[in-house]
Amino acid sequence: MTDKNATDQKNANALWGGRFEAGPSAIMEEINASIGFDKRLYAQDIQGSKAHCAMLVKQKIIPAEDGDKIATGLDQILQEIESGNFTFSAALEDIHMNVESRLRELIGPAAGRLHTARSRNDQVATDFKLWVRDVALTDLDVGLKGLQEALINQAGSHANTIMPGFTHLQAAQPVTFGHHMLAYVEMFGRDRGRVADCRTRVNENPLGSAALAGTPYPIDRHMTASALGFDRPTANSLDAVSDRDFALEYLNAASITAMHLSRLAEEMVIWCSAQFKFVGMSDKFSTGSSIMPQKRNPDAAELIRSKIGRIVGCYNSLMLSMKGLPLAYSKDMQEDKEPVFEAHDHLGLCVAAMTGMIADMKVHKDNMRAAAGAGYTTATDLADWLVAELGMPFRDAHHVVGSTVKLAETKGCDLDQLSLEDLQAIEPRITKAVYDVLTVEASVAARQSFGGTAPVRVTESVKAAKERFLK
Ligand code: ARG
Repeated sequence: MTDKNATDQKNANALWGGRFEAGPSAIMEEINASIGFDKRLYAQDIQGSKAHCAMLVKQKIIPAEDGDKIATGLDQILQEIESGNFTFSAALEDIHMNVESRLRELIGPAAGRLHTARSRNDQVATDFKLWVRDVALTDLDVGLKGLQEALINQAGSHANTIMPGFTHLQAAQPVTFGHHMLAYVEMFGRDRGRVADCRTRVNENPLGSAALAGTPYPIDRHMTASALGFDRPTANSLDAVSDRDFALEYLNAASITAMHLSRLAEEMVIWCSAQFKFVGMSDKFSTGSSIMPQKRNPDAAELIRSKIGRIVGCYNSLMLSMKGLPLAYSKDMQEDKEPVFEAHDHLGLCVAAMTGMIADMKVHKDNMRAAAGAGYTTATDLADWLVAELGMPFRDAHHVVGSTVKLAETKGCDLDQLSLEDLQAIEPRITKAVYDVLTVEASVAARQSFGGTAPVRVTESVKAAKERFLK
């Protein structure tokens, strides 16, 4: 054991009190320590400690001069960590003990007053809530807003671009590409709604719940709540130290976002294939093949499509850690951080890559337009015309159109390439006015119902989306 390690273990023992004579064994240290990952909470830990210290002084629980020393020491530690001049120690277990131990080195015995009326149980719950609120939720919301902006910009440029709309991945009816982009804007808008919703519940302050039962000191939990930007203190100390719902809610929202991203990623993979050629992925987001010189692979899209596995894995991991835990804190709960950090890191990368891909992609309008007409995608328009103009019941019209499609198939042509005689042989009352509805342009233009694909609606929706999401 190095001297430094030995000293840290002695310090750790000092923090635990006199009950332990020897330091933990190496294996125990390894399984017990969380500093390897919870050092990411350093800023929130120091923020929480400063708020707690100011409250202890104000309530005359600790002397003001000790409070000053503690605050100055904490500032210095923050600065040391941010400048890379802080040595984290596994023997000191976690971020809380690393910071407190350094504080003792810096300011001496006054450091011991900081942990009055507090436990690591309420401390870690507070730190983690601050991190989820100020880092995870904030980053996700900002990232999704950027992605929505890229999608809305594409929608604005392509309100009139016609592509096939699919059901069962079979060409169904023509739609506009702008409308398709805006579908994802709605999905990511709901994701942001889940983020905002999670923020309202995360925002209650656990600090002052102490180990589990509250504390006999005359603390002011409202003061620390407002200093840390929380709406209020938590109402029940047992719940406060053992609640990780906020992390689960974040992971759930992250999982749904990852699912949405995987769907868009899959469409990108399909669209940029040689068989579709609807979009061209920019060089920035494609890779070549080491053996096939003609290939441009949509690797970023494929990776985004795959990442959901890891992110939902993180969600499952924490859900199972929490399952069946009796009140209040159990060490199982230390396993809460890594899944949240991991999901945050992967998701952030996915959102950024997708934003770049959407902003950079080239839309091949002509290929989309050509595909939009293939597969008799205006068959429903013909049926609607028979209903509107000839007063046919829809079921009968459906039958007539079935025969028409069959004829076009035999002739190897599109519906609008059939002659009037051909059409009248199937239904004598058809007039040449029918041709007005058989083009894909007419088909999309007609779909003006609220939320429909008509270019006029898309243009309106782009404007509305800017108001709703980009303000
Ligand atoms: N490192 C611990 C965690 O992340 C802090 C809380 C420890 N509390 C305790 N009673 N051992 O959960």
